[in-house]
Amino acid sequence: MSLSRLSVTGVRNLHPVTLSPSPRINILFGANGSGKTSLLEAIHLLGMARSFRSSRAAPVIAHEQVSCTVFGQVETPSGQTRALGIARERSGELQIRIDGQSVRSAAELADALPLQLINPDSFRLLEGAPKLRRQFLDWGVFHVERRFLGAWQRLQQALRQRNSWLRHGTLDGASQAAWNRELVLASDEIDMYRQAYIQALKPAFETTLASLIQLDDLKLSYYRGWDKDRPLGEVLLGSLERDRLLGHTQAGPQRADLRIRIGQHSAADILSRGQQKLVVAALRIAQGHLLNEVKRGRCIYLVDDLPSELDAQHRGALCQLLDELECQVFVTCVDPNLLREGWRKQTPVSMFHVEHGCIEESADSPGVKA
Ligand SMILES: Nc1ncnc2c1ncn2[C@@H]1O[C@H](COP(=O)(O)OP(=O)(O)OP(=O)(O)O)[C@@H](O)[C@H]1O
Ligand SMILES: [Mg+2]
Repeated sequence: MSLSRLSVTGVRNLHPVTLSPSPRINILFGANGSGKTSLLEAIHLLGMARSFRSSRAAPVIAHEQVSCTVFGQVETPSGQTRALGIARERSGELQIRIDGQSVRSAAELADALPLQLINPDSFRLLEGAPKLRRQFLDWGVFHVERRFLGAWQRLQQALRQRNSWLRHGTLDGASQAAWNRELVLASDEIDMYRQAYIQALKPAFETTLASLIQLDDLKLSYYRGWDKDRPLGEVLLGSLERDRLLGHTQAGPQRADLRIRIGQHSAADILSRGQQKLVVAALRIAQGHLLNEVKRGRCIYLVDDLPSELDAQHRGALCQLLDELECQVFVTCVDPNLLREGWRKQTPVSMFHVEHGCIEESADSPGVKA
């Protein structure tokens, strides 16, 4: 996928703007506070129905505006053009349109515009709560396995039912057993999809990481959310009393995690900030490679403040990897000179200057080269 046109109105400090981005590399440069991250947020809003800084609508809407809108014309790898639009009101109301039709589920947007974000908060993927790593993992599984979403929805429903009777005890024995069965079936299915995905992700991640940085002992492993040697039904039976006391189900795919370790230690405890950024970038780029392998098209990379924390050599290596992915990329930086080089000759690169909320394509875009 690539955005061939992007219109943004009412997002943070950005003046209403329509851009025709390059299908490959787009560099947004400008002073602190000029609006670079805000443009990435607008694209994120279009693909995920929310900003990456806040899930609330208000912070992303420009002061004194009641709503923000983002439209995108998306070119698919099969040569189709799709029109995506999103409007968020200060009241919280959300409207999503795909090809002129109203759509209720953000999953359809995510399917139409797969996005990967690498930003200065990315280290949280390593040191933050398991939920972030599950989200990362499930992004990949969702995009390569069509049956995942259905299994996920069944799991959520079965979990809600079980947690409700754990708290209130208001379900008869036969219904409890039926919901337990549903919970176990959905859990096993999700675990199967996640395992298959991890098996493909691991080698892609190792190759990507090796071309960014030498970290030989770094290992990625998957915890499915319950004992790997016991069936979930048995685990749930054994933990029933504790689950009742706590009022929720402790074991299951809702507790899965990705473990990123160096020897006996968590990678987050050992690695420097720059190294963490490279590990997270390798994880996200590996996901892009896996997505490129399936027919459903490519994702768009949003890389906020690419040069920060990276020396020239690692900056160059990251640019090269992004370039080789053959995806559309939006990167931001303060100093454009740091990102002028490092792209292949044939790669179209467009540069946009962001100043006080105005965005203009820069005349010295290397994108004009033949
Ligand atoms: N809701 C809002 N309405 C209007 N302006 C806002 C709103 N929220 C934030 N801003 C302003 O938008 C400006 C742009 O912020 P943004 O994060 O996009 O800057 P940036 O170019 O990424 O800067 P940096 O280089 O420091 O990362 C900031 O000056 C901020 O104060
Ligand atoms: Mg910024």
